[in-house]
Amino acid sequence: MDRIISTELKEEDIIQEGSLRPVKLTEYIGQEKVKKNLGVFISAARLRGEALDHVLLFGPPGLGKTTLAGIIANEMGSQLKITSGPAIEKPGDIAAILNNLSDGDVLFIDEIHRLNRQVEEVLYPAMEDFAIDIIIGKGASAKSIRLDLPRFTLVGATTRAGMLTAPLRDRFGVMQRLEFYTEEELTVIVKRSARLLEVEIDDSGAAEIGRRSRGTPRLANRLLKRVRDFAQVRFDGKVTRDVANEALNLLEIDSLGLDNTDRNILFAMIDKFGGRPVGLDTLAASIGEDAGTIEDVCEPYLIQTGLIKRTPRGRVLTEHAYRHLGLEVPEIIY
Ligand code: ADE
Repeated sequence: MDRIISTELKEEDIIQEGSLRPVKLTEYIGQEKVKKNLGVFISAARLRGEALDHVLLFGPPGLGKTTLAGIIANEMGSQLKITSGPAIEKPGDIAAILNNLSDGDVLFIDEIHRLNRQVEEVLYPAMEDFAIDIIIGKGASAKSIRLDLPRFTLVGATTRAGMLTAPLRDRFGVMQRLEFYTEEELTVIVKRSARLLEVEIDDSGAAEIGRRSRGTPRLANRLLKRVRDFAQVRFDGKVTRDVANEALNLLEIDSLGLDNTDRNILFAMIDKFGGRPVGLDTLAASIGEDAGTIEDVCEPYLIQTGLIKRTPRGRVLTEHAYRHLGLEVPEIIY
């Protein structure tokens, strides 16, 4: 895998998860609709001997967007180049990246909603006409020349499809939303990863990790590694339900997979706002968290599990949240 630029945490994740990532669509567990659709589009493009149309993948973090980009490149028999929205600062940066692509390459731009406007404007003709316009010279003698690019496939990933500008969104021929995984799918993923990591695990141990991974393979793999540490140091190395249970309790991951930040959010909504509707920024300030992290990372799972709801007046708790926290359900649920 060829990489151009990667930023922030993602680089670490790519290296750590690298060995666990499936490289073929048939090895990829879950996301059945996405797999079926991509399978058809990839086969069709291959039959025609063309590059695959540009693909936008969106959904909460950790669900496999980078993995799918790698699979797309592999299934198309092409090279993958990885970069991210915040890493591309100037139009010249994206022009250089595009100019270095070869025919059929897959360019993966993570966090594509964080591209700046000037950079986006270079991408429009690149995506549509496989060309970029370069301005040479200044003032009255400035000239624009068109530089042809190879036929490439842009795979964009974002946790916030709504934050993409319309002209960028419209240039993707394929848009696929990734959903949270079921417990059963995560259990299979945990078993597969355990096999690759040579960790001994039984079905109930894998199921326990799967159940407490917030519907997210990245978390399932991370928890598997931490549970393995406990199994090796405190037990005989084998991951069973009891071992997983004890390790995850020590890691303060609860029965629904919630961590301390998730619980802080729920408790703040009760203790500081009395369960009344609260806005994202107010809630974030009250627990000293970044609003973007709450919106992208925590909230989607809390909504998916039915613990909180978004209403026009703000976020509210559900009965299920009170019960899950072991609290009496109040008479008024907003
Ligand atoms: N590892 C991480 N995500 C995976 C997935 N969806 N299928 C198989 N292995 C994975």
